[in-house]
Amino acid sequence: MKYLVTGGAGFIGTNFTRRLAAEADAEIVVLDKLTYAGRRENLADLESSGRIRFFEGDICDPAAAALAMAGADIVVNFAAETHVDRSIDDPSGFVRTDVEGVRVLLEEFRRTAGSLFLQISTDEVYGSVEKGRSREGDPLRPRSPYSASKAGGELLAMSYFTTWGVPVIVTRASNNYGPWQYPEKLIPLFVTNAMEGKDLPLYGDGLNKRDWLFVDDHCSALSAVIGKGRPGSVYNIGSGEEQTNIEVTTSILDLVGADRELIRPVSDRPGHDRRYALDTGLILGELGWRPSVGFREGLARTVKWYEENRAWWEEIKSGRFGEYYRRMYSARLAASGGRD
Ligand code: NAD
Ligand code: TYD
Repeated sequence: MKYLVTGGAGFIGTNFTRRLAAEADAEIVVLDKLTYAGRRENLADLESSGRIRFFEGDICDPAAAALAMAGADIVVNFAAETHVDRSIDDPSGFVRTDVEGVRVLLEEFRRTAGSLFLQISTDEVYGSVEKGRSREGDPLRPRSPYSASKAGGELLAMSYFTTWGVPVIVTRASNNYGPWQYPEKLIPLFVTNAMEGKDLPLYGDGLNKRDWLFVDDHCSALSAVIGKGRPGSVYNIGSGEEQTNIEVTTSILDLVGADRELIRPVSDRPGHDRRYALDTGLILGELGWRPSVGFREGLARTVKWYEENRAWWEEIKSGRFGEYYRRMYSARLAASGGRD
């Protein structure tokens, strides 16, 4: 089976590609633009051993898409701009990659004899869910430029199924965490800041809730969807393990062995979604998938990975990330008596 994995040098793409590479009959091509979030060295061993072929290119570029997709049976589209705070700072790249990039890939896929186009989406398309759990048929009410762009991308993908019978499946996963995650997102930012003895900028009252999914569980769910999912379907993927941000933060500090004094409440994110929660009955009932890593175990494994891979994240944090961090956090931290 020949796969095209787009965004394979990012967080989930790296974990998924490494899992796929363990399957003997998988022929793998990765297409990645290597934005600030993409790191080719994540896959360097697989590339140098010839296990994968790597194309540096943009999913919005039809020529790059055509070259990378040649002969592919299955396309797994992870490529996206992914950070909510960056989408609030500047939505333009989000609309381009997360909507237009999906169109370019779908147009190319429509011309091939591929058997599946898997569009990786997010639970954030449902918007903030004060009570209950989102089901696949619920209305989409995205509230950030990131989630609005992801909703546009997945709706476009499903329109290719309806209009032309293109075999499309959409998955909506909850917040992932684990190895190789760029340290702008809550868990890797707080783990690495705690290791450096820096303040942890906690937004608002710290009571926003997320359903935290260990990345290996997300990848095993995607394998189940590829193997047995029905084209034209949407599948939620979540752990059911809801945590408030303050609970996540104190667990991190305990695992790192750092002081709770590092917690620094700062001004809230505009339009901050209060809660995401998924009903995962469909993927459980239809595909028999369930998560296998609990939050405590997953977080301990994540902290251990960041402890053992300091060079990976220190290189990121000492580069362009520093400028981003100061722009996003300096004033907010200073206003609350903290420092960056
Ligand atoms: P990430 O930001 O770590 O990686 C994104 C990757 O896409 C990077 O390697 C980047 O270089 C690449 N990329 C960006 N724009 C590109 C373009 N125009 N052409 C080619 N490559 C491009 O993201 P992630 O956290 O690994 O998320 C992967 C996918 O999963 C995204 O589609 C995201 O919306 C979705 N998702 C993420 C989460 C999460 O918690 N991280 C949860 C649910 C869904
Ligand atoms: P994030 O990792 O950005 O994921 P998302 O917003 O896509 O769910 O944030 C997870 C939660 O953590 C969210 O409620 C915002 C909060 N948060 C902070 O409190 N401080 C931070 O510095 C970051 C990055 C996030």
